[in-house]
Amino acid sequence: MKLSAVLLLTAAIIGCAFAAKFPASFSRCKQEDGNCLLEAITATFRSFHKGVPEIGLVPLDPLRIDTMDIVQGDGPINIVLNFKKVDLTGFQHANIKKASGFTSNPTKMDLNLVVPVASLIGGYRINGKVLILPIQGEGASNMTMADCNISLKWTGKLVDKNGKQFYQVDKFKVHFDTSRFYMDFSNLFNGDKALGDNMNVFLNDNWQDILKELKPAISAAFTKIFEAVVSNVFNKVPYNELYLASGSVAVEIAAPVFERAGPRSAHTGTISILIGCRSVYSLTMRGSGSDCWEHVSHLTSATYSRCNAGDEPCIVQAISDTFHKYQSGVPGLGLASLDPLRIDEMDIVQGTGPVNIVLNFKNVDITGFKDVVVKKAKGFTTNPNVMEMNLVLPVASLVGSYKIKGKVLILPIQGEGASNMTMVNCDFLMKWNGGLEKHANGKEYYQMNKIKASFDTTRFYMHLSNLFNGDKALGDNMNQFLNDNWEDILKELKPAIIGAFTKIFRAIITNVFDNVPYEELFLPNA
Ligand SMILES: *[C@@H]1O[C@H](CO)[C@@H](O)[C@H](O)[C@H]1NC(C)=O
Ligand SMILES: *[C@@H]1O[C@H](CO)[C@@H](O)[C@H](O)[C@H]1NC(C)=O
Ligand SMILES: *[C@@H]1O[C@H](CO)[C@@H](O)[C@H](O)[C@H]1NC(C)=O
Repeated sequence: MKLSAVLLLTAAIIGCAFAAKFPASFSRCKQEDGNCLLEAITATFRSFHKGVPEIGLVPLDPLRIDTMDIVQGDGPINIVLNFKKVDLTGFQHANIKKASGFTSNPTKMDLNLVVPVASLIGGYRINGKVLILPIQGEGASNMTMADCNISLKWTGKLVDKNGKQFYQVDKFKVHFDTSRFYMDFSNLFNGDKALGDNMNVFLNDNWQDILKELKPAISAAFTKIFEAVVSNVFNKVPYNELYLASGSVAVEIAAPVFERAGPRSAHTGTISILIGCRSVYSLTMRGSGSDCWEHVSHLTSATYSRCNAGDEPCIVQAISDTFHKYQSGVPGLGLASLDPLRIDEMDIVQGTGPVNIVLNFKNVDITGFKDVVVKKAKGFTTNPNVMEMNLVLPVASLVGSYKIKGKVLILPIQGEGASNMTMVNCDFLMKWNGGLEKHANGKEYYQMNKIKASFDTTRFYMHLSNLFNGDKALGDNMNQFLNDNWEDILKELKPAIIGAFTKIFRAIITNVFDNVPYEELFLPNA
């Protein structure tokens, strides 16, 4: 996935009246005296971080940034992040590690500095979407970097102005790295503490990925700042006057006059989201209980059509008829209501992976069985062993109430309300084995052993009302997400749904076989 970050940085315009003389405490060095240069620039950061108005040196620490915007247009992080009145702090403790190129005929120059703790502290406003959820908030922000290693490189040349030689900065590049990036955004999600705390934990747990995303924007901010600082020095003071008389550098490295609103720069990057998941399901289901199903030992219903054993077309038809005609149940056959088919409880527990939830369903009615199309019914022979049945439900809905608790991706999710999961062209394939067993009454009954089922659907709809305790924006979005990603969600839920349906079918089928001697299910042999 691609995303772009656009950074627009404006820094305060400081009216600057440049004084030709350096304060006495400014140390100047001989040209190319490396050690002197490092110490002198470090001393500048230490002693003059509050600024020296007489020479137009703005405060370096804190260095105020009026506005800084990060706009990420597409991809999983889709946000507009505006920073206002951000103070960049920590540069007074900068240690200059390297300074080169300050020669009598300068072209390339570079500076390397390490700031032990650099913080961007100010106000932020965020609007957008992180992964699946709308994120908004406005409050105080703190982005802090430890051991911020900044490398500045620029090229330029000496140019003649009014008979004096000035160094003119051409291309300017900033790279930085940090050993740790901390973020804290207060009042996220309009103050929802659970969501906000979690988002902050997520941001910090994944600081390396987040920093990778924000780096172009922060680098661009640093570039603007340092380019202004460095250019300003060279624009104000003729190159030779920066040095001691014998040809040396004055280290008034910082007398920045910021230009307003730099050009927008666009960056691209990539983000990878932790979606490759391993889900653990467990499913517990309690059916209507066999006590609801009357046990009869004999098939009496004359309207129930019987077939010859092994006559597949007839058996297919008979099973179809059973579903169609007896949707409210066939007590004589030990069948409770088929449509709706009530499930008292169904729990989906996903222990690991991005979807980490406990989802309890209660009083779920499965509807759609009355329109079932029986595609296949194999193995109903006089000496039965393996049997196979293929059922297609044009529309199957599971409507009931749910309670959810857990985490979806990074955010805590909770809610309790009405749920509706609907599947179109729900195609069930079941296969089981078993054999005939003689019961106490001397008659043979088919005893089911193992059953296996699989299913597919052409579309899965899901709606959970009252998610996030009724927060409409978050809830609507989560439902939208669930439906936009129904194939992935279904993949996750499939084992649970197959488990539920298998238990239902097993209960129905074994109930029929347990109550009616096998041969009485069929027409008497001729
Ligand atoms: C900013 O965050 C850093 C790191 O968590 C912390 O040490 C510092 O005190 C915070 N600064 C402010 C002003 O909150
Ligand atoms: C800072 O980064 C430069 C490369 O950009 C590297 O050579 C140097 O060792 C780093 N310094 C520290 C203190 O990490
Ligand atoms: C369940 O959802 C399906 C598909 O969106 C819809 O057609 C059906 O009317 C819903 N059922 C109930 C009871 O809300």
